[in-house]
Amino acid sequence: MKIGENIYIDAITDRILRIHSSDTKTGSFAVEEDLGLKRGLREITGAGKSVTAVETDYLTVYAEKDGTLKIYDKRQKILCADYEGEQEPEIQKLSEEESEQMRQEGHVVHAGEDDCKFRVVKKLFGDEVIYGLGDKTGFLNKKGYDYIMWNSDNPDPQVENPTFRAMYKSIPFFIVLREESVYGIFMDNTYKSYFDMGFESSQYYSFGAVEGELDYYFIAGDTIADIVEGYTGLTGRAPLPQMWTLGYHQSRWSYASAEEVLCLAKNFRTYGIPCDAIHLDIDYMDHFKVFTNNEETFPSLEKLSDELSQMGIKLVTIIDPGTKAEEGYHMYDEGMENGYFAKDAEGNVYHNAVWPGDSVFPDFTSKKVREWWGNQTKILTEQGIRGIWNDMNEPASFKGPLPEDIVFSGDDLPRLHKEVHNVYGHLMAKATYEGLKKHDGRRPFVITRACYSGSQKYTTVWTGDNQSLWAHLQMSIPQMLNLGMSGMPIVGTDIGGFGAHTTPELLSRWIEAACFSPLFRNHSAKDTRRQEPWVFDKETLDINRKYIELRYKYLPYLYDLCYEETKTGLPVLRPLVMHYQQDKNTWECNDEYLVGSCILVAPVTQQGARERMVYLPEGIWVDYWTRERITGGCYILKEAPLNICPLYVKAGSILPVYEGLHSIEPEHIKALTLEYYPESTKKTAIFGRKQEVQEECRYVHYQDNGIDFAYENGEYNLYEFIFSEKRSNGLKVKMLHEGFEGKYQDIKAVVC
Ligand code: GLC
Repeated sequence: MKIGENIYIDAITDRILRIHSSDTKTGSFAVEEDLGLKRGLREITGAGKSVTAVETDYLTVYAEKDGTLKIYDKRQKILCADYEGEQEPEIQKLSEEESEQMRQEGHVVHAGEDDCKFRVVKKLFGDEVIYGLGDKTGFLNKKGYDYIMWNSDNPDPQVENPTFRAMYKSIPFFIVLREESVYGIFMDNTYKSYFDMGFESSQYYSFGAVEGELDYYFIAGDTIADIVEGYTGLTGRAPLPQMWTLGYHQSRWSYASAEEVLCLAKNFRTYGIPCDAIHLDIDYMDHFKVFTNNEETFPSLEKLSDELSQMGIKLVTIIDPGTKAEEGYHMYDEGMENGYFAKDAEGNVYHNAVWPGDSVFPDFTSKKVREWWGNQTKILTEQGIRGIWNDMNEPASFKGPLPEDIVFSGDDLPRLHKEVHNVYGHLMAKATYEGLKKHDGRRPFVITRACYSGSQKYTTVWTGDNQSLWAHLQMSIPQMLNLGMSGMPIVGTDIGGFGAHTTPELLSRWIEAACFSPLFRNHSAKDTRRQEPWVFDKETLDINRKYIELRYKYLPYLYDLCYEETKTGLPVLRPLVMHYQQDKNTWECNDEYLVGSCILVAPVTQQGARERMVYLPEGIWVDYWTRERITGGCYILKEAPLNICPLYVKAGSILPVYEGLHSIEPEHIKALTLEYYPESTKKTAIFGRKQEVQEECRYVHYQDNGIDFAYENGEYNLYEFIFSEKRSNGLKVKMLHEGFEGKYQDIKAVVC
């Protein structure tokens, strides 16, 4: 509906509005589903001369003639208002001379914005906390900082602003939480864009892009979870992963030969450490040519993957987009023949340099090119490769950035690099996902470094090149949590740190902190100290084993959370505020997280610390290690020797666990154990006859073959477990759906 000059509002649902400046639909890279008929936007008459008012059952919008908006909820409480005052930057601008002086001493001078085509400026009321924005550095709350959406490969240590305003990923979505309200904004624009979250002034925040149309979604709801559900309803949700992908992955740039990889795998088994995947970094290729292998060091990937599979270990290979420009190389020849590579403004194939040297860049905006690329995955899957790790897809380039006017011809709509840049990784992931799905048939396992909103439908992500620094361990928590709130549920960081040299203590604390991170991979760079679990001392080895085993124990819980995510978009790892929004102590809790709603993890992330403050929100929490029951709503001091990561389970929880797994082969899983953490303190009374019932605890558990898409045809089981103090044996199992024939032969319960 047109509500002002160049401003349209559509109601996608009662709670989701699309606000845009052009009525012509250009198609979105993120919102791929047809949103169908817009419903329920009504005009309110008599709002005033200069004002247009529209409403849904949940929202009311008042629009001035100039397009200034005020959005109210159904309680007539103002949620969000365009800023109407003077824009007076509070930051002092340096003169050219001063900037130069600063630069001479090596300082990074805060660069201003490129000219934006549009900029939306919203009022800050003062009580906001802002979450989301993908993988940006820093803490959970993004208020007071400014960011750039321009996918960037920057190998410097990731630090706070101003150096790292742009990261690998562009997820132009954020959530604003206030004392009595919450909303989200997703700006669907792939050009370079700016998000000033109150950096320029504490009176307002703003977002804008250098080109493209103003097009953003306003998402309302009562809780952060509602907002994430709304956002992922628009941009899609991560499909169920193969179960083994939730296991432990070992990686390094690079394991140099098949022998080294076999030796590594044997070490996992010798040391009794669960492991499901080994990743091959770029050196497995022939001169870094994608979809090839080095005949000398990796003569047969097939033989290697066969041998590894005997040990329950799968191989994952890295694939970069930069394609070596070399005649006689099939990827180059086929791509050249069919016009599959991006071109410069004169129409010549564009060259830059990446790992293989002189390289060209596939045009993933074309469906044909995506299919061609996707078909190449067959080369790998036929050799037993079980997952593809997409890297350098910002795209990274060693001879300066790709110029803005490089042309991606697409199938019928040519686009320039400046529009495609932020979706290049997204489209590469989509090509990989679709290729794997077609040729392998199992649920594709893709990891990507660069992405855009909506990439969660195709790929998992890791946070790129962190370093073995305590600060990066600390940051890994808010980074993963903000990615989760940005619709990316399956995330991970390089455990131990990628660049720089880890220490036994840092590796130990990192494996503890990352123990529940959905993507669970230890990865490190060339020329850094090795960091496989056994390379240090016995203590470090034991800690690695202990936490990797703990991870495998709770695998069915993690898998259930992945299932839940497909229905709700809620991430596996959640900030405390997601479940305790009314409690302001949780709003900026940067160093703890929830796994689903039942487990609270409070890792130690300071060198030398052997105790830490833990905030426990309301309710009763059971200390996982001591079984002490603690009433929350307070800070506690927890002793945490090097081998203890403080963990708490919410009383009233039921947690499904598997026992003794060292690799994940769902067909061999026949037994399930349920850990029941009673609400009542009278543990012994649970199964006793005389006690009055307080609560019934319920838990829904999902089971399928963990591998392919048979679940889409109903081949899954959904169990409901109900514990009640009334029943003499405590547990009741109800089948909500029965379609998978591998039902557990044994389900037992333990009271914790
Ligand atoms: C990039 C990746 C890193 C990888 C390296 C070599 O730096 O981020 O994970 O190991 O390239 O491929």
